[in-house]
Amino acid sequence: MTRETWATRIGFILAAVGSAVGLGNIWRFPWVTAENGGSAFLLVYLFVVLAVGVPGLVGEFVIGRRAKRNPVGALRDLSGSTGWAVVGGFSVLTALVLLSFYSVVGGWILRYFVESALALAGGPLPYAAEPGAYFGSASAGTDALAYHLVFLGLTAVVVLGGVRKGIELGTTVMMPAVFVLLVVLAAWAATQPDAAAGYAFYLSFDLSTLEENFFSVLGPAAGQALFTLSLGAGTMVTYASYLGEDRSLPFDAGTIAVLNTSVGVLAGLVVFPLLFSLGVEPGSPGPGALFVSIAGAFARLPGGTLIASAFFGVVALAALSSSISMLEIPVSFLVDEFGFDRRRSVAVALVVFAVTGAANALDPAVFQLFAVTLVDRLLTAGLAAFLLFVGWVLGRDALEEFRLGAGDLASSLGPAWLYAVGVVLPLFLVFTLLTSFGLEARVGFWPTVALAVGVAGAAFLGLRSSNSVV
Ligand code: TRP
Repeated sequence: MTRETWATRIGFILAAVGSAVGLGNIWRFPWVTAENGGSAFLLVYLFVVLAVGVPGLVGEFVIGRRAKRNPVGALRDLSGSTGWAVVGGFSVLTALVLLSFYSVVGGWILRYFVESALALAGGPLPYAAEPGAYFGSASAGTDALAYHLVFLGLTAVVVLGGVRKGIELGTTVMMPAVFVLLVVLAAWAATQPDAAAGYAFYLSFDLSTLEENFFSVLGPAAGQALFTLSLGAGTMVTYASYLGEDRSLPFDAGTIAVLNTSVGVLAGLVVFPLLFSLGVEPGSPGPGALFVSIAGAFARLPGGTLIASAFFGVVALAALSSSISMLEIPVSFLVDEFGFDRRRSVAVALVVFAVTGAANALDPAVFQLFAVTLVDRLLTAGLAAFLLFVGWVLGRDALEEFRLGAGDLASSLGPAWLYAVGVVLPLFLVFTLLTSFGLEARVGFWPTVALAVGVAGAAFLGLRSSNSVV
């Protein structure tokens, strides 16, 4: 059977933007920012998006388009090494961690959307009276489990449709809807009293907090940047593996990063003015922030039920276009490597995610482990591995792939890019990883750098010697 490809260039871009734009921009961003000192965090985050995110996206694209396979098969075929196949296998594992908690949060969103829409027919918003207590009971337990399964089911329906008739068609409808609705919501939010205080909080930069906290915000900021761009789990490898024609990978990566960041900023322009115009503190950190503070705010606004429906509708669509990109990782793996047809692959993946997601829905400790402790580190390590692979295993081939379809200007950046993804970015990522385990705080900057060089080098040499296994 021939491998499916995207029907159009814009279809690929929208699918990738659909993957990037999601709960990361709207749900995760505000509370991770609040937990890490606000503006200081924001600056580091934006820096990582630009300096690591864009070249990193190109790196994953290069692997995917060159191999035209899932991440496991791609690393194996391009290197001829089973060691690298095992590294690729980590992306399937990361996808498992990701979708297991993501689908639970998607379920929360779905529930708030359904209840807002039902209240449109008349009656109060059920979550509004006691938002904190309501979220507490909705976020874990059998209800959370039920909504997780519905959200996962919706995800599976899209993925079942395949690359063109499922993912591409779905995201081509969903993404413009998300953009338009967010612009409308932001314009409406601007008309609320005290919106200016919200903008001031959101957009003010405070350099002194940054200087004091640089290393402690580095890990979370890098994690958030990778998370929002869907990097480090092989999503972008997988999506690029369906590229049929030669298009400019650097250009597409830039477009995707710009669109994703714009949606993030736009979401902030909705959330922060709303909170301030009602005198709600955006502080309340933790995964419940959006649900508790903003959901409570809707009830006190004129026309709040309609706004709430639109808001949770947008978030649900954004979440769905991301979750399909997570499910596609194991599905493409099963299709490519085991020769399963798409239906069987989706069925197998569905059973696994239903169970692992259930653990997240029922036990907040598991959720905390998956969504906070594990995910950033897996993504950081995953991207470091992909980029080392591009720089040291693909090398010149990566440069050739980079140039294919890129104009003269972009092509001339090739050598600098290869140096960045082969040396600078993996070191930065490994350093970040070590910092997130508290190493920098304990032993200082230079010893951590030295260790990062050692870890990256040892990992790489170990994998190089595994070539002979084949
Ligand atoms: N980027 C998405 C968001 O911001 C989440 C996501 C989808 C993702 N696919 C991923 C995160 C792969 C990391 C890796 O909601």
